[in-house]
Amino acid sequence: MERVLEPELMEDPAQALAYARADFAEVNQGFVDRFRALFPELTRGSILDLGCGPADIPIRLARALADVDITALDGSDVMLAHARSRVAAAGLTARIRLIRARLPGVPFPPRNFDALISNSLLHHLPDPDVFWQEILRLGRPGAPVFVMDLSRPESPERAREIVETRAAKEDPILKHDFFQSLLAAWTAEEVRAQFPPRLHTLDCRIVSDRHWLVSGRLP
Ligand SMILES: C[S@@+](CC[C@H](N)C(=O)[O-])C[C@H]1O[C@@H](n2cnc3c(N)ncnc32)[C@H](O)[C@@H]1O
Repeated sequence: MERVLEPELMEDPAQALAYARADFAEVNQGFVDRFRALFPELTRGSILDLGCGPADIPIRLARALADVDITALDGSDVMLAHARSRVAAAGLTARIRLIRARLPGVPFPPRNFDALISNSLLHHLPDPDVFWQEILRLGRPGAPVFVMDLSRPESPERAREIVETRAAKEDPILKHDFFQSLLAAWTAEEVRAQFPPRLHTLDCRIVSDRHWLVSGRLP
């Protein structure tokens, strides 16, 4: 099926609240565990999370890696308000820096971070090249790149099935968003075709019934 774009930033308060309240523990802890397994040498330094939402992944990562500092950015003030209260409640304000910034053109100098992560941002972007160019610009040479997102199913019916299997009892706002996100998502094949030449060594593979994962290192 053709991609159906959804709004870029999550700025609707009801939508942001439903997302912030949802339980993504399994997927998000899986993200952190997989990152650590793939890049065990990364035990200190600075990590940038692009499109951090309510900051559940930065919080999990900061708890797992005690000597790492995390910068987490999002273009939505509403979403960042949830992130701020959760980071404060976790006692991690000294280690997780939350920034309102929107791709492209986030306000950091080139080669500023030791690793780059992102979950569920790419499907929001009309032009994916904006994302990959920021990845190339912001990480130090050799920096781990770890990006996960939804994979677009073959039909709206299959998308509906995934929503009912994975989120049957969730808030209707969240279910609606999940459905729209599946329709807006890129397939793994499309993602591979998006890599700029300098990122051709990145790997993109399907890791669940609804996710692909990109991993590798900057040149
Ligand atoms: C589906 S949420 C994912 C949040 C978080 N990474 C997670 O895994 O729970 C996507 C987030 O990306 C943000 N976003 C979308 N487009 C953006 C852009 N161009 N620049 C910065 N943030 C953006 C949205 O506001 C939203 O909070």
